[in-house]
Amino acid sequence: RSPESQQILEAHEWLTKLYHHLLKNSKDGKDAYQYLLDRGFTDELINRYQIGFSPRSRDFVVTFLEKKGFHPQTMVKAGLLNADNDGNYHDRFNGRVIFPLRNHLGKTVAFAGRSLGDQQPKYINSPETELFHKGKLLYNFDLARSAIRKQNSVVLFEGFADVISAYQSGVHNAVGTMGTSISTTQAKLLKRYADKAIICYDGDQAGINAAVKAAKLVRDVGLQTYVARLPEGQDPDDFIQENGADRFKREIIDASETYTSFMMSILRRDYNLNLEGDRIAYIEEVLKEVAKITGAIEKEYYLQELSKEFNISFNTLKEELDQISVQTQ
Ligand code: GTP
Ligand code: MN
Ligand code: MN
Ligand code: MN
Ligand code: MN
Repeated sequence: RSPESQQILEAHEWLTKLYHHLLKNSKDGKDAYQYLLDRGFTDELINRYQIGFSPRSRDFVVTFLEKKGFHPQTMVKAGLLNADNDGNYHDRFNGRVIFPLRNHLGKTVAFAGRSLGDQQPKYINSPETELFHKGKLLYNFDLARSAIRKQNSVVLFEGFADVISAYQSGVHNAVGTMGTSISTTQAKLLKRYADKAIICYDGDQAGINAAVKAAKLVRDVGLQTYVARLPEGQDPDDFIQENGADRFKREIIDASETYTSFMMSILRRDYNLNLEGDRIAYIEEVLKEVAKITGAIEKEYYLQELSKEFNISFNTLKEELDQISVQTQ
C-alpha cells in the first residue's frame, strides 16, 4: 500500500469519528440527528454504522484535516475536498448526513452524503479512488460476514439505508450493492460464504430491472437464488418503517420466490397469454430458464406447472427441454 493510500485511509478514519461526533454533539448537527431519528434509525444503529454529519461551514473539515497534517492535494485525490479555481479548498459533503462506506476489512474508504430533505442531488458519494471502487464494494460485508456464513445465506439490498433498517429488524446477513445491480466479482465472493442469496431490491421499475440482472448474475455463479418482492413504490426500508420487523421477515423475506418463478412472472409481462403465438413463445422462454435448473425435482416441478397451466403433455415439454439443454451445452 502506497504512503498516499495510507494517508487517505487515516483521513477517512479521522473524519468518520469527527462526522459521527458532530452529529451527536454539535448544534449544527441537531436537525440531521433529528432527521435520522424521524426516519426510524435508533441510536444503536447510528452508533453501529457510525453515521455522521458534515458541518455546514465549508472550512471546518479543511481546517481539521490541515491541523492533522494531511496535505490538501492528497485530500482532493481522496475525494474529501474539492479545489476551486482560486486554489481554495472546500469540503465535499457539507451539510449532509454521512454514511461511512467500509471495505471488507472494516476500513472506511469512502463516504455517502445524503441531503436532509428533498434537495437534489439526494446523495453525493466519494469518487472512485485507489481504495474505493463502487462496483467492488459490498456495503456491510465486514459486519455481516459471520452471519452470512452461519445462516448459509445472504440478503442483497440496493441501498445502505435498507441494510441498516434490515439489521434493526433482525436480518443480520445483509449486504448492499451501491446503487443498482451486483458485479460477478461480488457474487463470487458471496458464493464463498453461502449457498443461497435473496435479492431484495426496491419495488419500482429501476429496482425490478436491477433485480432481474442481479438474479441472473447470482444464479450464474451457482448460488440458489431467490427474489423478494416489495409493494409498488416501496423499498425495504420504507416497508420496515411502515410495517415493522415481523411483517418484513414474514411477508417479504420468507415469502421470496425462486429464481425461476420470479423470471416467469417477469416474462409474463412481455407476452399476452391470450394469444396463441405469445403463449408458445412464453413457454419456450420459460423452458430456457428451466433448462438451467440443476436440481431434478425443481426442474420437474416447473414442467408440471407449465403442463397444467397450458394443457401440454409433460412428455412433450420434457422433449423440448432436452433439446434446449443439448443446444446450450
Ligand atoms: P433513501 O432515500 O435515503 O432511503 O435512499 P435509498 O437507498 O432508498 O435511495 P434510492 O433507492 O433512491 O437509490 C438507491 C441507491 O442509489 C442509493 O443507496 C445510492 O447509492 C444511489 N443513489 C440514489 N440517489 C442518488 C444520487 O442522487 N446520486 C448518487 N450518486 N447516487 C444515488
Ligand atoms: Mn477503478
Ligand atoms: Mn431505488
Ligand atoms: Mn431505495
Ligand atoms: Mn429508501
